[in-house]
Amino acid sequence: MAAAVTDRTKVILLCTPNNPTGVPISHHSLEAFLQSARSDVLVVIDEAYVEYADAGSGPDSLALYRRYPHVCILRTFSKAYGLAGLRVGYAITTAAIAEGLRRTALPFAVSALAQKAAIASLDAGEEMAARVALVKGERSRMAAELEAQGWTLQPSQGNFLWIRADEQRLATLVDAFNGAGIMVRAYQGDGVRITVADPASNDRVLRLLSAHAA
Ligand SMILES: Cc1ncc(COP(=O)(O)O)c(C=O)c1O
Repeated sequence: MAAAVTDRTKVILLCTPNNPTGVPISHHSLEAFLQSARSDVLVVIDEAYVEYADAGSGPDSLALYRRYPHVCILRTFSKAYGLAGLRVGYAITTAAIAEGLRRTALPFAVSALAQKAAIASLDAGEEMAARVALVKGERSRMAAELEAQGWTLQPSQGNFLWIRADEQRLATLVDAFNGAGIMVRAYQGDGVRITVADPASNDRVLRLLSAHAA
């Protein structure tokens, strides 16, 4: 990405843990990237799935924000907090960048109800932690079983697993999922993202994939 930056580049978007692969960016490589990036290019670090990441698996983005003023961290209440319908998230960035965001934010304003829900959910940390722990436990269980079935996975720090598949294999998998009434997200030519859900639903996914394992 650093090599792709030109004079016309204004913003660089990074996502950690990444969607759809679940792979985090390491602190070291992100810091090296920030050091090499021009300071007039805004680096946005999208951490929509950060609550699902094991401690220390990804970057200490707050420390990087404090050190590099061209950083903007994005977080959301849509994922681990479960408030997707309320459209509420936040940015952690410098006053100058926040001022620019505010100028364009009017059509995306966060409603009073969403603000109340977001603040209330900050007080429901234990409930969120229990939900996240369930997802992380299931994520490990599914990954271990899928690897035993012969699938090659990358270690995911998100609330989903990524299975790389070429065009033909992907078509077979998508047909099988559709036929079973299980919604997954296919990325043409690349693979499929499977959301980690409740244990019974995950068991259905595991059974289906075992029938199509390599
Ligand atoms: C990587 C990533 N960033 C941001 C978002 C959007 O979050 P929000 O619901 O706050 O717009 C999503 C949701 O799909 C996402 O996958």
